[in-house]
Amino acid sequence: MRIIHIAVEMAPVAKVGGLGDVVTSLSRAVQDLGHTVEVILPKYDCLNQSSVKDLHLYQSFSWGGTEIKVWVGRVEDLTVYFLEPQNGMFGVGCVYGRNDDRRFGFFCHSALEFILQNEFSPEHYSQSRMASTRVVFTIHNLEFGAHYIGKAMTYCDKATTVSPTYSRDVAGHGAIAPHREKFYGILNGIDPDIWDPYTDNFIPVPYTCENVVEGKRAAKRALQQKFGLQQTDVPIVGIITRLTAQKGIHLIKHAIHRTLESNGQVVLLGSAPDHRIQGDFCRLADALHGVYHGRVKLVLTYDEPLSHLIYAGSDFIIVPSIFEPCGLTQLVAMRYGSIPIVRKTGGLYDTVFDVDNDKDRARSLGLEPNGFSFDGADSNGVDYALNRAIGAWFDARDWFHSLCKRVMEQDWSWNRPALDYIELYHAARKF
Ligand code: ADP
Ligand code: GLC
Repeated sequence: MRIIHIAVEMAPVAKVGGLGDVVTSLSRAVQDLGHTVEVILPKYDCLNQSSVKDLHLYQSFSWGGTEIKVWVGRVEDLTVYFLEPQNGMFGVGCVYGRNDDRRFGFFCHSALEFILQNEFSPEHYSQSRMASTRVVFTIHNLEFGAHYIGKAMTYCDKATTVSPTYSRDVAGHGAIAPHREKFYGILNGIDPDIWDPYTDNFIPVPYTCENVVEGKRAAKRALQQKFGLQQTDVPIVGIITRLTAQKGIHLIKHAIHRTLESNGQVVLLGSAPDHRIQGDFCRLADALHGVYHGRVKLVLTYDEPLSHLIYAGSDFIIVPSIFEPCGLTQLVAMRYGSIPIVRKTGGLYDTVFDVDNDKDRARSLGLEPNGFSFDGADSNGVDYALNRAIGAWFDARDWFHSLCKRVMEQDWSWNRPALDYIELYHAARKF
């Protein structure tokens, strides 16, 4: 099969959140299974061009009265076409935040036009003319692109979202309910080569589940050193997130306080698209550094290398999202032997099984429990999970280490979900 992803993020050339990871890692997994996979992306001026190999001009075409230059290059062993409209709409210095509906609406249309003009498809893309090309539409987050979701749901052959639980959570949504029969939840995976503590250049000692305790101890020391944290034997709770309402800002703040009160340390890496939230966390950082000097660090930016060190150097990664279509941070955490503490919603519910409460649910799926979780959206919920997690770290260290080893052994790669996508692509072709 020939599969073309039309996407607005792709790691590591243009990543804001998990969408970027998924476009790259799902494409690689499907390509590894013998299919031809290509990606079409906007050519942002803020593209991380050092990760693109052999970038060169491929062709130009016109759409909607605008000339569009098409560049082609290789990213993580995938062929990527970069569309550069000559009206400068992707030259605004950022991926999101400037007239997004107009820019990405234009991008989607021109990407389809590019496919058509190159005879990637013998037919055109409006339903009548796109007879032999099938369209699978994936919703990564129902909060974004609301204007387009209804139209896309109508015209696509199949639609997916990124976890079974989120697919049920949103099944009643006005844009989805009428098309429920073609809507599926397929869990995201992570790329085990991209996220691998054994080959990771950003951590001090390579490790696998065999030497997880030593590897994580070295990473923890490096993390503490980097931020002037006390080199004491206490648990570190890591938080790596976009700082938006979705991620449970008040619960994140509460988790920081609760951890510090429980003698733990906290490292937060947060990117805030909203200036008010950024300002709010800057003030929080100042206040906390005063009270808990040497025990807490809030880094308010996007920093890929630092995220790797935090995944490796933390004992826990907390993800208290209000809603979460899938969530990748809990999966990466496990790959690095860090224990996830999550709110039970969407993909977090599908991937994290509480050590005290979810044994049966985990075992029915052939898994062992792998973390701590809570239900409510208030501080009691966070306390319930965090107190047990930190308590286990202090009081049952051997058990805790065996849990770290166990979570590293679980397979959250694309091995299974990539097959689900391929099955879905085949099903889409049967119409
Ligand atoms: P979302 O896509 O909603 O942000 P996911 O959990 O699916 O959430 O994916 C988040 C991805 O972005 C992960 O790869 C995570 O490591 C990364 N990430 C989030 N915030 C930051 C940050 N401030 N710096 C570096 N990486 C980040
Ligand atoms: C979105 C969702 C996140 C998901 C990611 C990749 O950004 O917020 O839950 O993991 O897309 O599908």
